[in-house]
Amino acid sequence: MDEFEVLRQEINQCTKCSLSKTRNNVVFGDGFRNAEIMCIGEGPGYYEDQQGKPFVGKSGQLLDKILEACGFNRKEHVFIGNIVKCRPPNNRDPLPEEREICIPYLYKQIELIDPKIIILLGATALKGLIDPNAKITKVRGEWISWNNRLVMPTFHPSALLRNTQLKKPVWEDFKKVVSKYRELVNKEHYSANC
Ligand code: URA
Repeated sequence: MDEFEVLRQEINQCTKCSLSKTRNNVVFGDGFRNAEIMCIGEGPGYYEDQQGKPFVGKSGQLLDKILEACGFNRKEHVFIGNIVKCRPPNNRDPLPEEREICIPYLYKQIELIDPKIIILLGATALKGLIDPNAKITKVRGEWISWNNRLVMPTFHPSALLRNTQLKKPVWEDFKKVVSKYRELVNKEHYSANC
């Protein structure tokens, strides 16, 4: 078994925090194991916990649409993960200690997948990975350099579902990702929309 599968097994059996008591399924992540783009969200919701897969509910469908508009998909270009791997009850925000216990798993996933570009979806992902005091409204749309990788923070798709005015800035942010992907990975990358 390679290191990635060992990590998957370890995460799937984790009981390090109390979220393990209420989960139905661990949500390891989904997508291409050697993706050049990683999307990181907050944590599983109801449907993700039911299916053991990230971003399969309404916000996941919207994320897939945005990725598709950029010419990306989970199979070939993107791996999708979360700050915490188990659903917080009633979709509350993950607690600081839950995030702290879980974040080494995300670090290891990033190291093994080795993406050039990381897209942070929303405030919890931004605070969890980069800086607990960072504000998504301030830093979104600007590249952050983190451990030799380029990080693009943007709004969470669930925020877009609540506030359609955020569609435009999110699209601007994803257009920057497409340009960077062409620059760093594949200058021929095709996308119908940008
Ligand atoms: N929202 C997230 O942040 N992550 C998921 O996996 C699903 C919804």
